[in-house]
Amino acid sequence: MRRSMPAAAAATLLLSTVLAGCATGTSAASSASAQLVGVAMPTTTSTRWVADGKNVSAQLTALGHQVDLQYAQDDVPTQVAQVQEMIDEGVDALIVGAVDGTALKDVLAQAGAKDIPVISYDRLIRDSPDVDYYATFDNLRVGVQQATTLLQGLGVLDAGGAPTGATGPFSIELFAGSPDDNNATVFYDGAMSVLRPYLDSGVLVVPSGQTDFDAIATPAWSGKTAGERMRTLLPAYESSGRRLDGVLSPYDGITIELLAATAEIGYGTAAQPWPVMTGQDAEVASVKSIIAEEQYATIYKDTRQLAEVAVSMVDALLNGQEPETNDITSYDNGVEVVPSYLLRSQVVTKASYQDVLVASGYYTQQELG
Ligand code: BGC
Repeated sequence: MRRSMPAAAAATLLLSTVLAGCATGTSAASSASAQLVGVAMPTTTSTRWVADGKNVSAQLTALGHQVDLQYAQDDVPTQVAQVQEMIDEGVDALIVGAVDGTALKDVLAQAGAKDIPVISYDRLIRDSPDVDYYATFDNLRVGVQQATTLLQGLGVLDAGGAPTGATGPFSIELFAGSPDDNNATVFYDGAMSVLRPYLDSGVLVVPSGQTDFDAIATPAWSGKTAGERMRTLLPAYESSGRRLDGVLSPYDGITIELLAATAEIGYGTAAQPWPVMTGQDAEVASVKSIIAEEQYATIYKDTRQLAEVAVSMVDALLNGQEPETNDITSYDNGVEVVPSYLLRSQVVTKASYQDVLVASGYYTQQELG
């Protein structure tokens, strides 16, 4: 582990820096910043991950590093092969947004053997002793925020988060993310910590009875798969005449498909308003949907900040320094507790999108139509 950067390791890094500088013909003076960083990202099917790759690359380049950025299109063998290639081409550090957090152990053992620092990006890489640092958001809080917005949309909590005394019962269905993504369980745990008391007291009911993580998980975070599951649940609502009041959805790309499935049986009209639906990532299409009063809320994670944390971790390690962390207890990957830096996410609703997304420069008003 390089987390405490012993002097010998620092010396090795410095030496490899100089050697790398010589090999590429650059001067030793500039070589401290001219290193090659492999950036492995999960997919381009979601705009958030496209932004992550762009931001990380731009920030590394601005510091004078070279970047090998690869996307795995949610395919585990592809990502393993990409990381292998990065190691083979001699990267000096790796930033990895895992497709399957449990599938990288073997390839990362090679990185470990070569003293290549590894930053786990957004998603925790599990079961591996070769993960040095973790750059992410406070994922438990994301789940809490998702459940809180669901309760606010239903009118169970007021805008300040205080109980209104509404007793319902409100019929909801629950969706979770991909079982191979550690974040998905953390989001679920956070959300359930808020929802459980209301399920226990009967203010909320889940007519399908599907509340366990395994029952509600969505492999590969696939919107299509989630939409298909929703279509198996809706006939019971139709036949009983029961209204679906709300849905805990873990991700904007899933919410879009869930809205479409409910529209097929008449939701989204004056007679049958949309169920209250949550989300995550503040993707453009979904912010537009929020503005159009379809989706109720999303959770915004500033990928510029996440890139900044990961890039500064890499830069510190490449310069023989210890990266800044703010959490050294929460993220046990099954082998070790990975020192982490957790960022804070923000809730976005129709009332707040301008302040949170436009004023911060994340999107222009024009982009949101
Ligand atoms: C990320 C979320 C994202 C999801 C699907 C998770 O690991 O933390 O921001 O919505 O993956 O891409």
